This record gives sequence, structure tokens and C-alpha cells, in this order.
Amino acid sequence: MIYPKNIKLTIERLKEVPSTNSYLAELCKESKAKEFHTIIADHQTAGRGQRGNTWEAESGKNLTFSTVLFPTTLEAKEQFYLSMTIAFAVVDALGSYTDGFSIKWPNDIYWKDKKIGGILIENELEGKFISQSIVGIGINVNQEAFHSSAPNPVSLIQIIGVPIDRKELLNKILRGIMGGYIFLETAYSQAVPNIRQLYTQKLYRKEGFHLYRDKEGTFLAEYQNVEASGHLVLKDEQGNLRRYAFKEVEFILP
Ligand code: BTN
Repeated sequence: MIYPKNIKLTIERLKEVPSTNSYLAELCKESKAKEFHTIIADHQTAGRGQRGNTWEAESGKNLTFSTVLFPTTLEAKEQFYLSMTIAFAVVDALGSYTDGFSIKWPNDIYWKDKKIGGILIENELEGKFISQSIVGIGINVNQEAFHSSAPNPVSLIQIIGVPIDRKELLNKILRGIMGGYIFLETAYSQAVPNIRQLYTQKLYRKEGFHLYRDKEGTFLAEYQNVEASGHLVLKDEQGNLRRYAFKEVEFILP
């Protein structure tokens, strides 16, 4: 099926900006951004992460960028399919350099037990549909040492030992996002099982029992499901299903 909207990728490169997500949100407010308008910055002075955290990245070494989507078919209650699409595109692009990347629910990007990247998706709603989605992605690329409080960072250069062309990685990720997103937009019911399968295949700790912590304490559980809403379902050692929204459960890392 032909995509009904005329998508043209435009990339705006900035030396420094507080946050590419915030900058792009301002452009959208002023109706100055078309779909897939992408902002990439060498340095963010106030990069934002999930849960109100900051996102720190050494200037000129990493990938910090945002792009905007204006979905037409995506209901808020199934918004996690977009998140799955984005996370898979990132992991798939990284997988072209080496093995070992995965998605830690909901959409942290991991290499083994370390975090190499994060995704911050900020949606706007019109009725029950998502009308605008600003997708912000931060990947540790050529940064060789980490001094922030982030617990377990790793970068691509630390993994493969040579510097990576950031432009090439950006293009791989954007191409992947475009492919998945157009699939979702044009053939939603075929795309959903496909995207779910790709995401699940890449999930961190998708097999076996692992340690988690919720408000009741620490427990061992195995992965069961991620719902369209984004809830994670775990099965504990007693066979009980435990369902969590983002922030309600923590992975205990080795
Ligand atoms: C996380 O906490 O894991 C999400 C991090 C997202 C960081 C990216 S960097 C580009 C974009 N602009 C921001 O301010 N945040 C996102």
C-alpha cells in the first residue's frame, strides 16, 4: 500500500540546545515542523530523560536527536506499539555493529547488563488518538568515560573499540523508524503482531527467572507479556501474574 502522506526527512543540525525534544515541541507549537523533521544536537544543556531525570552526554561524541510523527491511526490505549517500533529500530541499527543489544522494558536500550541508550516519547492526544509524537533518542556512541550518576552506562566505542560514524548510525535508526512507522500507519492490523514479535524477540530478560522489586519488596519472576498499553506482566515463583505500569517495578541488575 502506498503511504498517503508525503514524507520528507529533514535534518536540522544544532551545535547546542537545551533539549532537542523541547526545541522540536516549540517548532510544532508554531506549526513549523513537518512529519520526520529531525533535530540533532552536538550538545544538550538540559537533556531530559524518563521519570524527570536528566540525560547527560559528552559534547560532540554521542547521538542526541528528536523526530516528530503525526500518526493518524494510533489510539492512545495502544500507544505502546509506537514505542515498540522505535525501540526495535534502535536495537536493530545497533545490531549492525555487533551483537548483544536488547530492549529493557519499556524502552531502554541495553548492551548485556548496561545501558547504551534511552528513548523519551512525548505524545499529544486528540480525543482517543495520538496526534503528535515527539520521539527523542539518546545513544552513547563515541564517549569513552562516564562521570555522571547514571548507574551502568556503556557506549558503542567501549564495546567495539573503534569510533563510529554518528551520521551513519542516525540514518540507520531513522530509516528503521520510518519503515516501522509507515507499516503501522498503512496496515495497522498486520503491523501490530509483527512489531510485537520483533520487540519481544529483543527484550532484555525475556527468558528465565530474574530479580525485580516492587512496592512490596524483592521477588523472582519471569517475563509473561507486554500489553498494548505498555504494562509489563511478570509471573512470580508462585505462579501469580503481576502487572505493572512504568515506574511500578524495578529490574534488579547484577
Ligand atoms: C531515558 O531516560 O532513558 C531517556 C533518555 C532520552 C534522551 C534523549 S536525548 C535527545 C532527546 N532530547 C532530550 O531532552 N531527551 C531525549
